[in-house]
Amino acid sequence: MTLDQFFDHLWADYAAMTPQAPKIKAAFEAQGERIVNDHVAFRTLALEPIGLKALEPHLLAIGYTPYEPYKFEDKKLDAWGYLPPKEDQPRVFVSELRIDELSPRAAAIMRGLAAQVDANKVKSPDVLWAGRLWEAVSYDDYQYLVEESEYAAWVASIGIRPNHFTIAVNYLKQYRSVEDVLKVVEGLGYGVNSSGGRVKGSPDVLLEQGSSLADRMKVPFADGVEREAPTCYYEFAKRYAGPDGKLFPGFVAKSADKIFESTDVKGARS
Ligand code: NI
Repeated sequence: MTLDQFFDHLWADYAAMTPQAPKIKAAFEAQGERIVNDHVAFRTLALEPIGLKALEPHLLAIGYTPYEPYKFEDKKLDAWGYLPPKEDQPRVFVSELRIDELSPRAAAIMRGLAAQVDANKVKSPDVLWAGRLWEAVSYDDYQYLVEESEYAAWVASIGIRPNHFTIAVNYLKQYRSVEDVLKVVEGLGYGVNSSGGRVKGSPDVLLEQGSSLADRMKVPFADGVEREAPTCYYEFAKRYAGPDGKLFPGFVAKSADKIFESTDVKGARS
């Protein structure tokens, strides 16, 4: 599989889960803008057979290089950033939830999901747009997870698939700042993640980021009833050049920590 084919699959899945995304992209393209994807992010569980290191070979196979690890203490996450073979190709960010740090009930729910995963499925790159690899959880378990870890609830209900694509603001001609882009997104009727401020980061840390609030769709739960749950969102990133004159290649954990909340059932609005 080529890198372009890989991202075509990801976009098809992401656009179906995130109806706002093709609309936001089209609105910028209608103004003559070229949309370049800064990065795609995935979420998984630090459990066999779907841990971060089990998914990584699919990125290495299409030319990605591990760049830098990140840690999110409050959210109980570990993550890695990956650099693409060429500058204008998307970076990739993969995070995994540390299950050992959850409450016994939440940990048991998540272990029960991972135990259902067919390990052979994980050996194929399409695991990265597979969605749920387990039976739907009960709505009771889902609500329990939401109270303890929004990230756990999201992975349980949505599965493994691109969590967001990101418009690279650097490539836009008429919009120079993340805030300018957020205003367009709001003008189209979509909410903006304001947790920690609308724009996370600053030129000082060489990266500014903002995001929409995730779309909400009916998803199945184990009681046979579909209920609304947050799916995926669009991110917007502007990179600045460092002392070496090159655009900052990595991620900023403090900013990403707040961006995660774009899929919160309860938060990200204040
Ligand atoms: Ni991101």
